Amino acid sequence: MQLRCALSVCHVLMLVLCLSTAEDFDWTKNNYGSFYYGTFPTGFSWGAGGSAYQTEGAWDKDGKGLSIWDVFSHKKGKIQLNDTGDSSCESYYKIKDDVSLMKELRLNHYRFSISWPRIIPTGIKSDHVNEKGIQYYDELIDHLLENNITPIVTLYHWDLPQVLQEKYSGWQNISMINHFNDYANLCFEKFGDRVKHWITFNNPWSVAVEGYETGEHAPGLKLRGTGAYRAAHHIIKAHAKVWHTYDTQWRAKQKGLVGVSLAGDWGEPVDISNQKDIEAAERYVQFYLGWFATPMFHGDYPQVMKDFVGRKSAQQGLGTSRLPSFSPQEKSYIKGTCDFLGIGHFTTRYITNRNDPPGRSSSSYFTDRDLAELVDPRWPDPGSEWLYSVPWGFRRLLNFVKTQYGNPMIYVTENGVSEKMMCTELCDEWRIQYYKEYINEMLKAIRDGVNVKGYTAWSLLDKFEWDEGFSERFGLYYVDFRNKNKPRYPKASVQFYKRIISSNGFPNQREVENWRRKAVEMCSSSNQLLAADPLTSHMEMVTEIVVPTVCTLSILISAVLLMFLLRRRN
Ligand code: NOJ
Repeated sequence: MQLRCALSVCHVLMLVLCLSTAEDFDWTKNNYGSFYYGTFPTGFSWGAGGSAYQTEGAWDKDGKGLSIWDVFSHKKGKIQLNDTGDSSCESYYKIKDDVSLMKELRLNHYRFSISWPRIIPTGIKSDHVNEKGIQYYDELIDHLLENNITPIVTLYHWDLPQVLQEKYSGWQNISMINHFNDYANLCFEKFGDRVKHWITFNNPWSVAVEGYETGEHAPGLKLRGTGAYRAAHHIIKAHAKVWHTYDTQWRAKQKGLVGVSLAGDWGEPVDISNQKDIEAAERYVQFYLGWFATPMFHGDYPQVMKDFVGRKSAQQGLGTSRLPSFSPQEKSYIKGTCDFLGIGHFTTRYITNRNDPPGRSSSSYFTDRDLAELVDPRWPDPGSEWLYSVPWGFRRLLNFVKTQYGNPMIYVTENGVSEKMMCTELCDEWRIQYYKEYINEMLKAIRDGVNVKGYTAWSLLDKFEWDEGFSERFGLYYVDFRNKNKPRYPKASVQFYKRIISSNGFPNQREVENWRRKAVEMCSSSNQLLAADPLTSHMEMVTEIVVPTVCTLSILISAVLLMFLLRRRN
């Protein structure tokens, strides 16, 4: 997190520097373009999402095993304000409440993840399967389907069973592939009759880089220059194995789809007339999205990654590249293992070429890329330090996916914006603006011919935001974490997103403007409810703790008094 903050400050400073020195740099080449009024293809799927560790709570209930995030978040100093996901949104106990929020939004799908240690406490299937965990997901899936909401289910949203980390070093170890495959197979067996959209991994970039390279995320390892590449290598193979398992054992009967959800920020050249910047920007995207997508669609890592990491490794005196390689058999086994591609997209960077000298001690995924990231100080950034609103980058990324990977079926699995913790503001006009513009750029991309089948707003609820704890709120619904019942309140963006869904797009300027106005009008009454909440929590405390304690004490005192009086009479 600190690293991210420092980077952001650098970005802004560098860009200001660039602006003052580079006369020929033309911002107007990247103007926002006009708004496009129109509708999405019939059957387009609208959704919202969340993930197990971020929302469920019940971290040690009903036989669940520990995950690396349970352990990591309990260590002091790892998470903002030492928050943990122990109770989070308590979604484990709120299936019905949450599904009614989804109904209110008129969602077509809901994206959630299964907690591996909730259903296999040690991560090793032959050890023990936890029936209570299975029951929970059964209920969630059934309840979604009863309400005509399609479940899109992620198998791995970062919460690796702790036992696997301790025994094998987690994704550093090749044995994860078989354990993950056993777990996935169990999910297909138990839930595959009803779940038709499976995502193997969510954002493996983050797992690899933040989990094993910078250590900002669980398991917190800092294996610079090698850890991320090794973790990614095993994840890609595990993904392929699970796809083949589904393909050979379940597809004919269950007729579902298996994909992956990859994160991808867009990288735009700082100077579009400079070939070095153009190549650096392409490299940025290849080291991000391409690292995982290229093997899955074409069978091997992007050539540019092989060249850059290979060259730097040689200059560092290493006999082989720090980027592992696939055998010819592995390449053909991995190629073509995405029935659809999930895209999690939030933001964009300007990229310029920069030569990072290959010092052995400073070797890292970041310096391997030979580039610098910059941001435009004028881009809005309402919440997370790293999240600038740059809608046009979304359309470019979607078109990049279309041309690079043969126009695959795409589900946007994450897109949204956050605000900072202290803000109990439900009138989130900036989020309305973000969704309006990003969804519009997606519509333009569909008009360009990109095959986008669905969109998932991130996220349904405010929730545990990894190393940022509860300090960043991505939800359409506000969650009052101060109250142990974790009540949910609709933000204005709920009203706005709901209109986009029921119109399947943007009918005309007047109507869309009306939606915005009405949404903002409505949120002030929800704001009042929320403002009254501390009072309600206080009243609850009075009835649940103070009243029983006073009663018990009164009874005890009366009894003592009575005994005292009786004794005196005798
Ligand atoms: C991507 C992660 O998959 C998700 O869990 C997180 O909430 C968002 N990024 C926002 O940081």
